[in-house]
Amino acid sequence: MLAPDRSPDVIEAEKMVLETVRQLVAEKVAPRAAAIDASGEYPRDLRDLFAKNDLLGIPFPEEYGGLGSFLTYVKVVEEVAKACATSALIIAVQELGALPIMIAGSPEQKKHYLPKLATGELMTSYALTESTSGSDAANMRTTAVRDGDHYVLNGTKVFITNVAVADLCIVFASTDPSLGPKGVSAFVCHTDDPGFKLGKVEHKMGIRGSPTNEVVLDGCRIPADRLLGSEGEGFRIAMATLDKSRPGVAAQALGIAQGALDFAASYLQERIAFGKPLAKQQGLQWMIADMDCETQAARLLLYEAATRCDLGTDDVTYWGALCKLKCGDVAMRVTTDAVQLLGGYGYMTEYPVERMMRDAKITQIYEGTQQIQRIVIARKTLGK
Ligand code: CAA
Repeated sequence: MLAPDRSPDVIEAEKMVLETVRQLVAEKVAPRAAAIDASGEYPRDLRDLFAKNDLLGIPFPEEYGGLGSFLTYVKVVEEVAKACATSALIIAVQELGALPIMIAGSPEQKKHYLPKLATGELMTSYALTESTSGSDAANMRTTAVRDGDHYVLNGTKVFITNVAVADLCIVFASTDPSLGPKGVSAFVCHTDDPGFKLGKVEHKMGIRGSPTNEVVLDGCRIPADRLLGSEGEGFRIAMATLDKSRPGVAAQALGIAQGALDFAASYLQERIAFGKPLAKQQGLQWMIADMDCETQAARLLLYEAATRCDLGTDDVTYWGALCKLKCGDVAMRVTTDAVQLLGGYGYMTEYPVERMMRDAKITQIYEGTQQIQRIVIARKTLGK
């Protein structure tokens, strides 16, 4: 494992951030989690709380208002997700939509957008997926045509997380469809740009407090200086973004797993059956031990991946896929076992583990399915 290259200041800052986050989660997030899930309403108050406590730009470079630490960022997402996966997603999507600017923005674009994204004055989102290009992301149909000092975008993006509550949306569109992935370009759209419209709202199994919408680009006209990088660099920007955002999903998954494990462990100590606490049943001890072992293993992979993002190693594609695959699968398994350990109560909405199980599922799907993560991993293992 690589040792993080961290100054005492960063270590101290992380300690303080995590103390604050634990307190906010206990006092403000955990008590709201069930209601957010039941109502499906975006928790704007928690978004404001995160902004006020400087939690929206933690991995951003310090010069743009962040802490410059992916490791701290994943730990924060994990803490929030222990109680509420939807709320953790607010922080993770802000990173997802800011990364293309961090990766490919001009100095002017960075100076213009990143400080406002770090404070939450602007919220952002990321639009790559289309109805016929999910896993096969390069196969997109959305186009961007240069028209003088503007681009005009046409097409429909689907499953776009939090765009309905965002000011910005990073849109990937083809400026030259004949070139496939090499014809894709990345743009910063503003959600009030002419021709930028929200389409259908999706109704989801989990993460129900985060709005998911279609985005319809209907002759959406934007200034040409909103292009990120050069024409044709968009697919590389999209992929490089996912390399560093997948650890955020992994952190969300890990937090869900830990939350479910903690709840199930305390339930086993309290629930009496056959004259003794369930925790005294060896068969259940073995289940809990496996859940714990898997969760800890997932955590080590995640922290390693985040450390590599911080160090800027050249293998973050591989590590991002490894940690997302492991953490997502662990979240699904641990939450399913937690429901099982609670028996009938686990299946009821009165207890949080059924919500955690529903929330866990998406971590095996978005930001690249587990099958895509395996493709990415195998390309490295076997040599592309
Ligand atoms: N970094 C930089 N460049 C990369 C790259 C990376 N990680 N991965 C690929 N590229 C480059 C390649 O080098 C290649 O360029 P060259 O030809 O010049 O070498 C080009 O991009 C095309 O790459 P591939 O040939 O590997 O492309 P592919 O079509 O085989 O696809 C894939 C690769 C890994 C399957 C990719 O399509 C993929 O990751 N798919 C999943 C998409 C995904 O994760 N979507 C998530 C949507 S966002 C979301 O879910 C957010 C949310 O809701 C919160």
